[in-house]
Amino acid sequence: MGRSSLYVCQTCGAQTRQFFGRCAACGSWNSLVEQVVTASDTRRRRPVVSAAAAAGAAGGAPGASDLLHRARRSESIHTVGERPLQRLGSGYGELDRVLGGGLVPGSLVLVGGDPGIGKSTLLLQSAEAMAARHSVLYVSAEESAQQVKLRWRRLGGAGSQLQLLAETDLEIVLQELESLRPAVAIIDSIQALHDGELASAPGSVAQVRECAAALARIAKRQDTALLLVGHVTKEGTLAGPKVLEHLVDAVLTFEGDRFASHRLLRAVKNRFGATHELGVFEMRDRGLVEVTNPSELFLGSDEPSAGTATIVACEGTRALVVELQALVSTTSYASPRRTATGIGTNRLHQILAVLEKHLGLPLSRFDCYLAVAGGLEVEEPAADLGVATAVVASYRDLTLPPGTVLVGELGLGGQLRPVGQLELRLQEAARLGFRRAVVPKGSGLGPMAAGIDLQLLEAGTVAEALVLALGVNPADDRA
Ligand code: TYD
Ligand code: MG
Repeated sequence: MGRSSLYVCQTCGAQTRQFFGRCAACGSWNSLVEQVVTASDTRRRRPVVSAAAAAGAAGGAPGASDLLHRARRSESIHTVGERPLQRLGSGYGELDRVLGGGLVPGSLVLVGGDPGIGKSTLLLQSAEAMAARHSVLYVSAEESAQQVKLRWRRLGGAGSQLQLLAETDLEIVLQELESLRPAVAIIDSIQALHDGELASAPGSVAQVRECAAALARIAKRQDTALLLVGHVTKEGTLAGPKVLEHLVDAVLTFEGDRFASHRLLRAVKNRFGATHELGVFEMRDRGLVEVTNPSELFLGSDEPSAGTATIVACEGTRALVVELQALVSTTSYASPRRTATGIGTNRLHQILAVLEKHLGLPLSRFDCYLAVAGGLEVEEPAADLGVATAVVASYRDLTLPPGTVLVGELGLGGQLRPVGQLELRLQEAARLGFRRAVVPKGSGLGPMAAGIDLQLLEAGTVAEALVLALGVNPADDRA
């Protein structure tokens, strides 16, 4: 089978036989990517095209419908066979949850994350657990077999039938997959694999794409569930993996604070389950341990202090009670400092502007720092009321009554907007012993809320909510 290389511009699609730094057709820089063309690729399509063209040109001449008939490969959706999805347990409930209930045979899952965050650890532990019941192949393209074995020992690996291959050559990995036909294969990492047919260096877009495509073909053919590890680059994008997102069935990201021990696993794409599910792990000296009660991670254990507020964030089907802290102090700069950790700075600016306008607080003369405990990133607007309360509490030096959670989105007009999954949030707060919740008016709680043991304080505006939460009117004596 003849193979040759082509350089294809990722912007305009122009093809050349030679590499250029700039595309001659559209003028964009660094857009040429090497691609392998198989001789059979170019030949395969022609008959179908010419059959359709012949039918169109001949207009029902004898033989044309025959040709068309032969070219047809589609079928009615009713006659398509259904096969129930069978899933393989990964050995970790948190990983299964993020996958949507376990690994689907023949599926491709990409696990991305910063170097050193624990991808290899997670997958080796999971491989070990799965190897007790299925055939599992672990391909280490970055570390030697000895290194993997040392880690395996440290993680408490013992009697499983895990197969290990330390190899970077794609061809050998493919052969091994074909001869072993494992139920699960792990490739650590896709960037370190190398296809000898391509001139580009390992880790380049062309290499990553070709290697993944070749692995995907085998995995689908023999129903092997494939887990690919991918690194995130310095720029914070899944380098090669960005190229892979359309090719794989699920993309999981493993993230966390390098200085804290917990790690968060999320699905950003999942063809076999919901996205935005969250799995929580903790890195210990003997590997990753599941955290089944993550709210405790994000709740400060200290005495309540001024400028602290508690919110309930939702990640997929899971609610997390999270503590926020704000520090508001007179600025000594021409323009005040605004720093937020775990919440977008734009969001903080917007909330400060709403407080300034609708409560008349002169916040533009104050520095404002905000932090989410535990290094969690809270993206949802449901955290707005909590942020506003923490800021006002710090500004007024007030401490919230203990056992209060705040949930609500802030409109630019100072109104409080309802948020999704309120019952789920309230249940989690009640479970952790919170007693009061300030929520948007008209949230329309369903029957599920009946059993929740929480005092509900409904507010229509942020001003009302703050009075309910703090017990005093923060706008009363204007500073
Ligand atoms: P690793 O899985 O190698 O990260 P990745 O594959 O994402 O690059 O994890 C490396 C880090 O995890 C390393 O800094 C040490 C730490 N670690 C532990 O704290 N405990 C352990 O049991 C293991 C195996 C690693
Ligand atoms: Mg690794």
